[in-house]
Amino acid sequence: MNMQQSGYNLTTLGVSIRGLFTGYLLVIGIGLMVAGGQVLLTHGMADGKFGLSIDDVVYSYYGDRQSSKLENKLNGSMQDKAERVVRQDIIKWVREGADRQQWDTKIEQHFNDNCVKCHGVIPGLPNFNTYQGVLPSAKIDEGASIDSLTRVSHIHLFGIAFIFFFVGLIFSLAVGISTWLKTFTIVMPFIFLIVDVLSWWLTKIHPSFAWLTIIGGFGYTLASAYMWLTSMLQMWWYPYRGKISTEHAWLQ
Ligand code: HEC
Repeated sequence: MNMQQSGYNLTTLGVSIRGLFTGYLLVIGIGLMVAGGQVLLTHGMADGKFGLSIDDVVYSYYGDRQSSKLENKLNGSMQDKAERVVRQDIIKWVREGADRQQWDTKIEQHFNDNCVKCHGVIPGLPNFNTYQGVLPSAKIDEGASIDSLTRVSHIHLFGIAFIFFFVGLIFSLAVGISTWLKTFTIVMPFIFLIVDVLSWWLTKIHPSFAWLTIIGGFGYTLASAYMWLTSMLQMWWYPYRGKISTEHAWLQ
């Protein structure tokens, strides 16, 4: 049985289920915007310039194999965290091999004054309270570690699949959209999600895969924005317009 044609569709839903769907879509919509903002602020700043670019993706996953993460970040997203002279001191120290003696006499103080209020407190950030804690960031930057890629990949796959599942389920009740377009739109975000996560790993191996990350992200953003807008429109605008369906269960 085709549920949309039997009259059970977004334009004829009861008001309570409509409220449930709307609440969910609103929260997901805000969540996706916050997530987008966070991507811009972290990965988007990886190359030191605002806005997401291929370079950002390469820096985040492949790394900048000419220099260290400390140097890259001090010229990028951590630029505003310390005075110029302090940053220059740290970068010089890193380039000269990050030795223990200079750490004790001078560099540790820089980290204490400028960095440990976050790096030492915020979980997930490298801890800069000790020399051992700083050393890995002073090595050549090889991008995301296998550890963090594994962690972020599985959280991303599980978490986002849930979002797409429910957004797709709601959208499957839309009317006036051909079956193949509807199926395509519902399936695409899952494909793009796999492309996205796969591209992080591929970019870690070779920087030329970075464009796949952009395509993946762009693809599922577009598909979910379309499903979101269509669903909201059909739930709240179409019934008033009264063209698609003349019998509204929700008005009774
Ligand atoms: C206000 C909090 C805050 C302060 C202060 C701060 N950081 Fe950060 N740092 C962050 C956050 C959040 C991230 C993760 C986002 C990013 O990479 O931009 C980060 C990431 C980094 C990374 C990359 C870590 C990794 O392995 O991915 C380095 C290196 C770094 N910071 C160095 C510094 C240095 C050096 C200082 C002091 C001059 C400093 N940070 C001060 C919040 C801070």
